[in-house]
Order: sequence, then C-alpha cells, then structure tokens
Amino acid sequence: MKTHKPVATILIVSAVLHGILSFSHFSQVGILPYIMGTICLLSCIASAACFYIKKRLKNTKSWILYHNFFAVIALVTLIGHIALSR
Ligand code: HEM
Ligand code: HEM
Repeated sequence: MKTHKPVATILIVSAVLHGILSFSHFSQVGILPYIMGTICLLSCIASAACFYIKKRLKNTKSWILYHNFFAVIALVTLIGHIALSR
C-alpha cells in the first residue's frame, strides 16, 4: 500500500500536536487520558520504528510481527484513551 507510510506519518505528527494542545484540558479530564494517549503514541512510534530498523532486528523476516504487535497495543490503548477522555 503506497498510502500507508504517509498516513502513518501524518497520524504520528498530528498525535504529537494533539497531545501538546490537549494540555489545556488537564483540569477537566485528569491524568488517565494522558497516560493512555502517551502509551498509544509510543506504540505507534515503535510500530513505525520496526520498519526503519528491520535490518537490525535479529530475524529480519519477522519484523512485521513486531510491527503488528505494537499496532495492536496502539489500537487497544486508543480505545482506552477515548473512553477515558469522556
Ligand atoms: C495516536 C495517538 C492519539 C490519538 C489517535 C488520540 C485520539 C483522541 C481522540 C479521538 C480524542 C477524543 C475523545 C473524546 O472527545 O471523547 C482524544 C482526546 C484526548 N486526548 Fe488524545 N489521542 C492520541 C494521543 C494523545 C496524547 C499523546 C495525549 C497527551 C499526552 C492525548 C491527550 C488527550 C486528552 C487530554 C484528550 C481529552 C480532551 C478533552 O476531551 O477535552 N492524546 N484523543
Ligand atoms: C512510517 C511508518 C510506517 C511504515 C513505513 C510502515 C510500513 C508497513 C509495511 C511495509 C507493511 C507491510 C506491507 C503493506 O501491507 O503495506 C505494513 C503493514 C501494516 N502496518 Fe505499517 N508502517 C508504518 C506505521 C504503522 C503504524 C503507525 C501502524 C498502526 C499503529 C501500522 C499498522 C500496520 C498494519 C496493521 C499492517 C498490516 C499488517 C499485516 O499485513 O500483517 N503501521 N506497514
């Protein structure tokens, strides 16, 4: 998929901006959405990083397994993040 890489990059850049801009809401939502959001963002970055360091991963053929592992963590924490933001 040609669009996957640019879309993932936009996701990460916009999530960083979203995280920074959302700090004005701290008093309304508490700390939990920030913790979940940060784990979600770090998982997205780790998933993307797997692609760039795939040559350095021991079993090069299985880099997609690491990529998918972090993508699943990102999805699960995203659900928690949105639920806790309400
Ligand atoms: C991939 C990463 C992220 C995605 C996709 C994401 C997505 C979302 C979405 C869809 C909401 C709206 C929930 C609602 O209105 O009920 C939200 C709210 C929020 N997010 Fe994130 N987020 C991400 C990362 C972060 C990070 C890194 C932080 C801060 C460290 C953060 C802090 C917040 C806060 C405080 C709210 C609540 C704002 C409010 O309702 O007033 N998010 N996020
Ligand atoms: C710059 C960042 C990224 C790059 C270069 C990248 C690259 C790739 C590549 C090469 C594939 C396999 C070939 C394909 O189907 O296109 C793939 C599959 C996939 N990526 Fe990414 N990716 C990135 C970020 C992300 C992020 C942030 C997520 C989600 C959090 C994600 C989720 C997935 C999923 C779910 C698949 C399908 C896995 C499968 O077919 O088993 N990717 N990615």
